[in-house]
Amino acid sequence: MLNLTGKVAAVTGSGSGIGRGMALAFAHAGADVSCSDVVPGRAEETAVMIRALGRRATAAVVDVRDRAGLGDWAGATVHDLGRLDIAVANAGIARGSSVLTMGEEDFDTQMDVNSKGVFLTVQATARAMVRAGRGGRIIVISSIAGERPEPGAFAYCGSKAAVRMMARCWAQDLAPFKITVNSIGPGFIDTPLAAGAIGEGDIRALNERWVPLGRVGYPADIGNLACWLASDEAEYITGTYNIMDGGLVDAGGWGMQTGQPPMRDAYREMLRTMSGDQLLATLDQMTVEALAEVERLRIERGLQ
Ligand SMILES: NC(=O)c1ccc[n+]([C@@H]2O[C@H](COP(=O)([O-])OP(=O)(O)OC[C@H]3O[C@@H](n4cnc5c(N)ncnc54)[C@H](O)[C@@H]3O)[C@@H](O)[C@H]2O)c1
Repeated sequence: MLNLTGKVAAVTGSGSGIGRGMALAFAHAGADVSCSDVVPGRAEETAVMIRALGRRATAAVVDVRDRAGLGDWAGATVHDLGRLDIAVANAGIARGSSVLTMGEEDFDTQMDVNSKGVFLTVQATARAMVRAGRGGRIIVISSIAGERPEPGAFAYCGSKAAVRMMARCWAQDLAPFKITVNSIGPGFIDTPLAAGAIGEGDIRALNERWVPLGRVGYPADIGNLACWLASDEAEYITGTYNIMDGGLVDAGGWGMQTGQPPMRDAYREMLRTMSGDQLLATLDQMTVEALAEVERLRIERGLQ
């Protein structure tokens, strides 16, 4: 097992899902962890879990859109835990809409959290690392949505593509300081965010069919990859994008909305089990092909 003993990691959005999974993985590997989240109480819940593992942990309420707040958090991490070796810009949100309907405020919020928030997190934590002069590891969370287009999700996809490229540029900026910067592109990971994107479907059951490796991903999977990228052994890896999706993208599976066969069949099956209300509520997430399927089912079932 990778050994992060003596290191301190800081993770944004670590009060849920992948962020919590990475924070716990770092702690299992021996690191102390500075947790933060915008929702009060959430980071503290993760910190309690980490302390139960025998590691030190702090918790703070930080909105990644707040530059001063992130600077204070990075400073407090060094003050309270003694150093800052590993930083993860993880916090993110998903707001879907097509280009025809997306509101300006929704677009700005999506970009502010997912792209600008990652920049501000990297800036605040990299400055603390440069001040300490010991190098460091920075990991940013992109998505497979940043490499494949998806109807009705252009702002999310764009924000994740931006993060992936910015990470490569930051790897160049920070190489002289022996700070590595790498991005992770998760596939479907079993979290509240992914469940929201899937809608009424059972994310585990659907992924058993969609994913070549036969299961949905878990936050602990991403945690394992983050530990590797954060380890001393990964000191020569920088500017890379690390997909972790169980083979989904290469199998053409990412495309529930684009109608590629594996997703389309699984989605059709899911639609057959939905109630009329659920069907109607799912309309917003559909492609032309899936919409046609909904229309057919509505007529077949006599729904208005
Ligand atoms: N779950 C997936 O399948 C999946 C796939 C690809 C990428 N991702 C990315 O992984 C990251 C984590 O997602 P998740 O699935 O764990 O979601 P999640 O909703 O379970 O957790 C996200 C956390 O970020 C916090 N957060 C939201 N806005 C914030 C803000 N402005 N400032 C600080 N914290 C904020 C939330 O409170 C929440 O605790 C996101 O960047 C997401 O886009 C997730």
